[in-house]
Amino acid sequence: MLSRAKKFCLTALLSAMAISAQEASAQTIKADVFLYSYNDPFIKELSSYYKDPSIVADFKIGIYNSSQDMLAEQSLISRALTKKTQGIIVNPVDANNVKSLIEIAKKADCPIVFINRKPSDEDLLSYDKAFFVGSNSKLAGNLQADIMDRYFKEHTDADKNGDGVIHYALIEGEVNHQDTIQRNLGLNDALEVKAYKYEKDVSIVANWDYNQAYKQFSNYIANPAHLASLECIFSNNDAMAGGVIHALQEKGYNLGQNNEKYIPIIGVDATSNGKTLVDKGYMIASLKNDARAQVMLSLKIISLLNEGKSVDSESLGLNVSSQSLYVPYSVIE
Ligand code: GAL
Repeated sequence: MLSRAKKFCLTALLSAMAISAQEASAQTIKADVFLYSYNDPFIKELSSYYKDPSIVADFKIGIYNSSQDMLAEQSLISRALTKKTQGIIVNPVDANNVKSLIEIAKKADCPIVFINRKPSDEDLLSYDKAFFVGSNSKLAGNLQADIMDRYFKEHTDADKNGDGVIHYALIEGEVNHQDTIQRNLGLNDALEVKAYKYEKDVSIVANWDYNQAYKQFSNYIANPAHLASLECIFSNNDAMAGGVIHALQEKGYNLGQNNEKYIPIIGVDATSNGKTLVDKGYMIASLKNDARAQVMLSLKIISLLNEGKSVDSESLGLNVSSQSLYVPYSVIE
């Protein structure tokens, strides 16, 4: 958790960056951004901040879609390096396979910032100009547990058979992704210490994707006994929560606040679609994965390194450990 002072520093830093961005500087930095997939709604929203003039005024930004293809990613990055880019920002296709990307950046003495998809510490630490910016996903899991537990305390009949045991479904993102792992660790840790006992009925791996979640969850609830015993749903992101809600709505569930058939579900990201699901009362809450702050920090790192300054907790207003930074979440309900 961030101390109050650190939180303040981060807010101050982000507003100072916005102000300095408005006063367009003569020294424009050329930076290139590579995204693993435009089909991912959260990444699409994140990419929009690299086009926001109030954020990128000091930069000349190129944005590229790697389309989930590692070879395409590597050749796009090599090309940017030959065109004298001053900063590579990568949302890598496979975070467990980034050694060659780090090597080519290191050879060109170019800073490389990974965003959202985390390489190993070992890979990052192999180059002093390699950093990672992401989110504090353990906190997201903790918050999901707290919000859901509060829901059951406020709606005692949501424990359908009143046995004090809450049966839940877990909808998971990509298996090796740090956010899937940490969100679920944070969720389990926090559920373990609640007065209600939480028991997992099913885990569905839907790789962050609406359609995969919709199909697999529809199959699961096609069995009436499954639907009858399910008491709540935790989803690793909003897109998959959207697919699950679609499947529930086809069965007459989660159609709005006054609907008697309701299974509380909570997501992560607070994308614009996620916020709509909360506003309509289909989903109880989401946790804001702060893409704007992550984008601003990635750019700040590139400029610090280009100015020969050090990248640390002091210069960024957020704890930096093993060349990694984790932006906190906030609750949207
Ligand atoms: C997560 C986000 C997911 C998905 C994933 C891609 O942080 O919650 O929705 O975008 O990143 O790496």
